[in-house]
Amino acid sequence: MGENLILQKKLSGSSRVLVTGAAGFLGSHLCDALLGEGCSVVGVDNLCTGKAVNVQHLAAEPRFELKEQDICQPFDPGPVDYVFNFASPASPVDYMSLGIETLRVGSDGTRNALEVARKYGASFLQASTSECYGDPRVHPQPEDYWGNVNPVGPRSVYDEAKRFSEALTMAYHRYHHTDTRIVRIFNTYGPRLQSRDGRVISNLMTQALRGEDLTIYGDGTQTRSFCYVSDEVEGILRLARSDEHWPMNIGNPEEWTILECAQEVLAVTGSSSRIRFESLPVDDPIQRQPDITRARQLLGWEPKIDLRTGLKLSLEYFQRCVERGEEARPVQAAAPAASATQPAAGTNCGGARGREDP
Ligand SMILES: NC(=O)c1ccc[n+]([C@@H]2O[C@H](COP(=O)([O-])OP(=O)(O)OC[C@H]3O[C@@H](n4cnc5c(N)ncnc54)[C@H](O)[C@@H]3O)[C@@H](O)[C@H]2O)c1
Repeated sequence: MGENLILQKKLSGSSRVLVTGAAGFLGSHLCDALLGEGCSVVGVDNLCTGKAVNVQHLAAEPRFELKEQDICQPFDPGPVDYVFNFASPASPVDYMSLGIETLRVGSDGTRNALEVARKYGASFLQASTSECYGDPRVHPQPEDYWGNVNPVGPRSVYDEAKRFSEALTMAYHRYHHTDTRIVRIFNTYGPRLQSRDGRVISNLMTQALRGEDLTIYGDGTQTRSFCYVSDEVEGILRLARSDEHWPMNIGNPEEWTILECAQEVLAVTGSSSRIRFESLPVDDPIQRQPDITRARQLLGWEPKIDLRTGLKLSLEYFQRCVERGEEARPVQAAAPAASATQPAAGTNCGGARGREDP
């Protein structure tokens, strides 16, 4: 792939870069990293899940501007050399309460961002997700596994939006010869992660710092992997500079049981909270782990920050969230009432899963 490219713009210190979703968790860290490389950055965001405060520290930076813009409407940020399309609700709490908006930003929004890249001959990188693998039957998940996704369950608004955005990105590459990349991001955490997004790290950190019981669903033996944000952004930038057009997993392959993760949180916070077990949500995956062989081979990338270190680096941020009175939100609270009977668990067709992104 790639022999028909009409233009390939390399990311460099003189690039003008568009970041959609710039006021979000990952988008804001990406803006920091791009500015650190000397780029000029135009960020767009409709602030539906992100916060302007995430880029407030860039207010006096002349190479950065933030435009309030819904990317589901056509938009023109002026000439750019690279487009990073990161706009989308990302946590289960958000995308289940913003289901239609999530489908629209994955489809119309991604198309509008691709049109910007096409108009200015810019390169394009799509933020995708390990949710594309659904409830995987292959462990760990390599990029050539096509996944096991329920197209009609409550989480399909996100999974299928991202799968469509991958298809659209590949179509622009094939039909319009746009220079594209696709990153499949696995569960990432760090400062600026929404403290109220219902994900494992934010929930456990917030509960520990408030002295509340840490809630674990099931017996806590289900595993997850957690990538610290600086590792994730480094992998994304390496992909952006590469010639790789096929999807690339970027995540931390180190597996932790949820119980081990809770114990790490207790050690880092010094909290005396107790652990409380609750019943496992239907369809909760038992294991989730990226195969990063391709990232190692093609990008020379692998994560460096272990969970204990990443939690320590995130501690001050979560302390400030707790001081502001932000509370954890359970995933189930966001699920809209089902209007149709869901097939029984075990058919892999629906049911509320209290799972992460991934
Ligand atoms: N954080 C993770 O672990 C993770 C994992 C897999 C994939 N991703 C992907 O990375 C991207 C960023 O995720 P995040 O964790 O930073 O989430 P986030 O919610 O913090 O950031 C997403 C940003 O997109 C903005 N946005 C949403 N819809 C928009 C629209 N229509 N127009 C303009 N802006 C819009 C939001 O306001 C927000 O600022 C998403 O595409 C997400 O799917 C994240």
